[in-house]
Amino acid sequence: MLAMPPIISVSNLSKTYGSGFKALNNINLDIKRGEIFALLGPNGAGKTTLISIICGIANLSEGNVMVGGHDINRDYRAARSLIGLVPQELHTDSFETVWATVSFSRGLFGKPKNPAHIEKVLKDLSLWDKKDSKIITLSGGMKRRVMIAKALSHEPQILFLDEPTAGVDVELRKGMWDVVRGLQASGVTIILTTHYIQEAEEMADRIGVINKGEIILVEDKAGLMHKLGKKELKVHLQGRIDAIPASLAAYNLELSDDGHAVIYDYDTKGDRTGITSLLNDLRNAGIRISDLDTRQSSLEDIFVSLVRAP
Ligand SMILES: Nc1ncnc2c1ncn2[C@@H]1O[C@H](COP(=O)(O)OP(=O)(O)OP(=O)(O)O)[C@@H](O)[C@H]1O
Ligand SMILES: [Mg+2]
Repeated sequence: MLAMPPIISVSNLSKTYGSGFKALNNINLDIKRGEIFALLGPNGAGKTTLISIICGIANLSEGNVMVGGHDINRDYRAARSLIGLVPQELHTDSFETVWATVSFSRGLFGKPKNPAHIEKVLKDLSLWDKKDSKIITLSGGMKRRVMIAKALSHEPQILFLDEPTAGVDVELRKGMWDVVRGLQASGVTIILTTHYIQEAEEMADRIGVINKGEIILVEDKAGLMHKLGKKELKVHLQGRIDAIPASLAAYNLELSDDGHAVIYDYDTKGDRTGITSLLNDLRNAGIRISDLDTRQSSLEDIFVSLVRAP
C-alpha cells in the first residue's frame, strides 16, 4: 500500500531575521494528514517563526515548504487557503460583532457565504450566545475562542494553534480540547504549540521538540514515553530506616525524607528491571515492605532532560 503523502512537508528550512539572528536552522519536518502534532519548546525556540513561515506570514531564508502539494512561495494562495491559523498574539479590540467578524474572515478566503457553517462553528466553541456581542466586550478566553472560530470560518484542512490555551481557564481549556478532537475526527490536521507538556501529552499523536531553532526530536507520543521513559518504584516500608544498607548499594536507592520508603529508578527499555532481585535483597536485609507503587516519568521530565543535554 502506498503511504499517504504528508500534508505538510518542510525541507531544509532555515530562517535568519533581518537583525541577523538565525531563528531556525535546517528544519526538516513532515506532518501527516489527520494527526494532532504538538510542537513543544521553551520561549524563543522558534515555534511561532516556524508556523509563520508555513502560513506564509514570514519569509523563509533557505529551504522549502509544501502544503497540500503546493509550494508556499510559488503557490501561496492555494497553500494558504488550506490553512486556518490562530496566532499567538491576539488582535481583537474590534467593535464588530462576533458573527460579523467570523463571517468576514470566511469572505477573505473567497469562499461563498455559509451561515450554517458559521453557526456550527460558533456553537461548537460555545460562542453562540455571544454572536451579537461586540468583540471588545468579551473576556480574554472568549476572544481566543473567537480567533479559533475565525480560523475555522473557511473550513480549512489544517489548523495551526499557536499557544491556544494561554490565558484560558481549566474548564474552557477542556472544552477547547474537545473541539480540537472533534475537528480531528472530521479530518482536520492540527498543529499546536505549547509550553505545557501535559497539554502535548494529553492531546498529541506525535510530538516534536524544538530548541534554539532546531528540531531535536520527533516521535510518536507513546514511543517517546517508551524510549525515554524511566519508571520509578516506590517501596513503602513497614518501619523506618536511617540509611540504605550497604548490601543494597548497587541499586542506587534513594531514601524518602521520612525514612519510610525507598525509591528505585529503573529503565523501561531494559530486559530486566531488577525489581524481583531488589525485593529479595530488601527481605534479606531484614527490611519489611508494606506497599509498592510505580510512577512513569512524564513528558516534562523527558523534556527537561532533552533540553539540558549538551
Ligand atoms: N521579527 C523578528 N526579528 C528578529 N528576531 C525575531 C523576530 N521574531 C522572533 N525573533 C527571534 O527568533 C527567536 C524565535 O522566536 P519565536 O517567536 O519563533 O519563538 P517561540 O518558540 O514562538 O517562543 P514563545 O514560546 O515565547 O512564543 C527568538 O529568539 C526571537 O527573539
Ligand atoms: Mg511563540
